[in-house]
Amino acid sequence: MSALEDALKVKELVKKHTEWFRDSLPMIASENLISPMAMELLISDLHNRYAEGLPGKRYYQGNIYVDQIEEITTELAKKLFNVEYADVRPISGTNANQAVLFALTKPGDIITGPPLQGGAHISSAPFGAVGMRGLHKIEYPFDVEEMNIDVDLTAKLIKIVKPKLALFGMSVFLFPAPLKELQDAFQETGTTVWYDGAHVLGLIAGGEFQDPLREGAHVMSGSTHKTLPGPQRGLIVANPPGDEEKRAKFWKKIQRGVFPGVISNHHLHHMAALAVSLAEHIEFGKQYAQQIVKNAKALAQELYELGFKVLGEKNGFTKSHTILVDVVAQGGGRRVAEDLEKANIICNYNLLPYDDPKKPRNPSGIRLGVQELTRLGMKESEMKEVANFIKRVAMDKEDPTKVKEDVKEFKKEFNKIHYCFNEGAEAYKFFENLF
Ligand SMILES: Cc1ncc(COP(=O)(O)O)c(C=O)c1O
Repeated sequence: MSALEDALKVKELVKKHTEWFRDSLPMIASENLISPMAMELLISDLHNRYAEGLPGKRYYQGNIYVDQIEEITTELAKKLFNVEYADVRPISGTNANQAVLFALTKPGDIITGPPLQGGAHISSAPFGAVGMRGLHKIEYPFDVEEMNIDVDLTAKLIKIVKPKLALFGMSVFLFPAPLKELQDAFQETGTTVWYDGAHVLGLIAGGEFQDPLREGAHVMSGSTHKTLPGPQRGLIVANPPGDEEKRAKFWKKIQRGVFPGVISNHHLHHMAALAVSLAEHIEFGKQYAQQIVKNAKALAQELYELGFKVLGEKNGFTKSHTILVDVVAQGGGRRVAEDLEKANIICNYNLLPYDDPKKPRNPSGIRLGVQELTRLGMKESEMKEVANFIKRVAMDKEDPTKVKEDVKEFKKEFNKIHYCFNEGAEAYKFFENLF
């Protein structure tokens, strides 16, 4: 194949991918659809440019408008999260986490955090960013029935190991972290509390789930493209402790952790798109977050009634956008996720708290997120239909390609995008124009 043919082949594959997702039920808990107005800014000239440092203190010329965009984006982030400080430069959630680690720890320090099989993200694993910073990670004990970290044992652990930094927040984040309950332990040990809100930023901003910075967390990082439906990017917000001087010093450390710590240029087209997404979430985030949680609960309840083993039953299955299902009886996480994919239902296989973390390729569970389906206008009644599609594939072992035809038909009614300035716009129209 010539180089041009390769390029055209990739273009064709992007088209096929786009059409596939238009015809599918995307249920990966870390994904979402960006709004049309934010999407437009991704293909602006900003994509071609560089900015290093902070507005007014750049290392390159050409940033007259970029500075204004960055100031507006930062102010929108502060407003949305009701905080004193925000940094909108990290280019992903992992990148934001690296900046926090760089700012607040030194190699050899102790960090505590949730266990991997309890839902922690790889950036907090010894083979991820935490390991790269040379930290010793000690995991919190996990309570499977609560589907949360064990509060009493964690309080004891913190008092014993006196971590420099205590991390909360997970990739399977069903229930709020017990920050208030652990306050005494943090006070006693002088530990800095860091909340990784990658998955739940949009819920937090919409007044759902929990309010970490008012429950004892000093700093919160996160991705801007999960329940906060913006461009692929990250941010850090903080309400640091202490008097004005101490707070400013804390924040300076975070900002130096971002640049020059872990980024150079910060992908300006994504920043402009983020400004739009933050503005949209200020306007529509509350209704969106409420509907996400209602939908997740409805899907969990329906799957449970159909006979699935949905985790977190004791606490109503979930308080977020995510649900976790043990599908050992249906053939295991991998088998079920692959069969669902053949039926155009896109989710991922997932470790459960009682799985061996050394065998992540063949776990017992699947993780389902409803934030994107909610963005497309689905409500509780549609969750019943989604649960039934899942049952037909996973439980009844119907031919997935047959179920796929019904999924495609069902999805036709749900390709309009909501909770944004172009309310009701066709979600995939923009892409059609590209090809
Ligand atoms: C808890 C948590 N932190 C960080 C990240 C990383 O975010 P990103 O994919 O934006 O790098 C994720 C990703 O899903 C996550 O679940």
